[in-house]
Amino acid sequence: MRAAGHLLALTMQEVLKRIEPGAKDGDIDGFAEEFIRSHGALPAFKGYNGYPKTLCMSFNEQVVHGIPGNRRIKQGDLIGIDCGVILDEYYSDMARSVFVGGEPPRRVRKLMEVTERALERGTQNMVEGKRLGDVSAAVQAEVEAHGFSVVRALVGHGIGTRMHEEPQVPNYGSPGTGPEIRNGMVFAIEPMVNMGRFAVKTLPDGWTIVTADKSLSCHFENTVAATPDGPEILSRVQSEANL
Ligand code: MF3
Ligand code: CO
Repeated sequence: MRAAGHLLALTMQEVLKRIEPGAKDGDIDGFAEEFIRSHGALPAFKGYNGYPKTLCMSFNEQVVHGIPGNRRIKQGDLIGIDCGVILDEYYSDMARSVFVGGEPPRRVRKLMEVTERALERGTQNMVEGKRLGDVSAAVQAEVEAHGFSVVRALVGHGIGTRMHEEPQVPNYGSPGTGPEIRNGMVFAIEPMVNMGRFAVKTLPDGWTIVTADKSLSCHFENTVAATPDGPEILSRVQSEANL
């Protein structure tokens, strides 16, 4: 799973370099697919329940599962990029959100910072002996302290030889509740945070999730293992020593 996470992080790094005004989402998706396949892995999303692409690219009020196609990226877009790979039977899953073209407005930057910090807070609780509810509550507390809302209709998940394994990992909950975390467990922790209210709906394409109130939404995700040395983020570019 380390190897799958490492390749995924490399893929994301290359994808992020290509996000710029005028680029087409479908072209970036094609690049990502080629990159993953050329490294001996498979795109985890393509064909998953009929999903047609390698990436999800979710613009602005889109929360997750936006399908790349013919949309041109514009200055001022806030884009969530979600990707998964399968390497030697093991899955990894990650997402990053980027603002296109310079400094975001202050409230947008706050939304991005808070979502990323919520992921960090959740990650810090991925420790043997703690409970799933500790992860969820840590994410929720960070988000709500800043007046944003946590999407309820979609959750993180266990991950391993399938993309979605038990348990579900909600981004809201109560400390000290739920199953106990044990070393060797791996979760995809993925706060989806709305600037407005938490309600979402699905577009007629059957995939794209948008905020009901059309407010901006932000998504960060990592594949995280509980280990005897503490939480280990697998979806990152690791040092040679870790390889
Ligand atoms: N990253 C998404 C998740 O965490 C998976 C999207 S699968 C797709 O659940 F098929 F919808 F793309
Ligand atoms: Co996921």
